[in-house]
Amino acid sequence: MKNCSLKDYKNESEHCQLCSISKSRNKVVFGTGDEKANIMFIGEAPGETEDRIGQPFVGKAGEVFSDLLKIIGMSRSQIYLTNMVKCRPSNNRDPLPEEISACSKYLDAQLAIVMPQLIVPMGKFAVGKFFPGIALKDIHGKAKMEDDTVTFAMYHPAAALYNVNMKKILEEDMGRLKFVIQRFGV
Ligand code: URA
Repeated sequence: MKNCSLKDYKNESEHCQLCSISKSRNKVVFGTGDEKANIMFIGEAPGETEDRIGQPFVGKAGEVFSDLLKIIGMSRSQIYLTNMVKCRPSNNRDPLPEEISACSKYLDAQLAIVMPQLIVPMGKFAVGKFFPGIALKDIHGKAKMEDDTVTFAMYHPAAALYNVNMKKILEEDMGRLKFVIQRFGV
């Protein structure tokens, strides 16, 4: 779509049938926040609460995400927040490669329209898009600069729900992100 806005893509996504999870979704979870944000956070896929409400990170992982955001002193209205996949895979299974690939149409449009200076992929699927072939354990908390865009890899906030040590690692990485924001004047 030429010269399309985020709203156009959001409207289109609400009728999307590009992959099979469209059949079981309640709501498409397109993305929220500032369309002109300097920072875009990208998670994996909506969970049960997100599927019901239609907004990203509003369940248990969202509580962790909100705590982490406080470390960089930002609110959800100052960032743009979305997921690799806009519909909920049933039983919270991992999204399949064909689902990620079908849904990349929307994520790529969001990246092109918002044009964030700083992209923060969270979790192996989002990090895999920007750091292909690199294990998350080796890249989390690190940044790369490409074409004036900084990308900073993080574990997924939900990791803290299953492993208490992960909360500390996520907080430390968020501290590094704060440094990156200051260093690059984002
Ligand atoms: N996990 C995600 O990756 N995204 C959400 O929106 C919620 C949980």
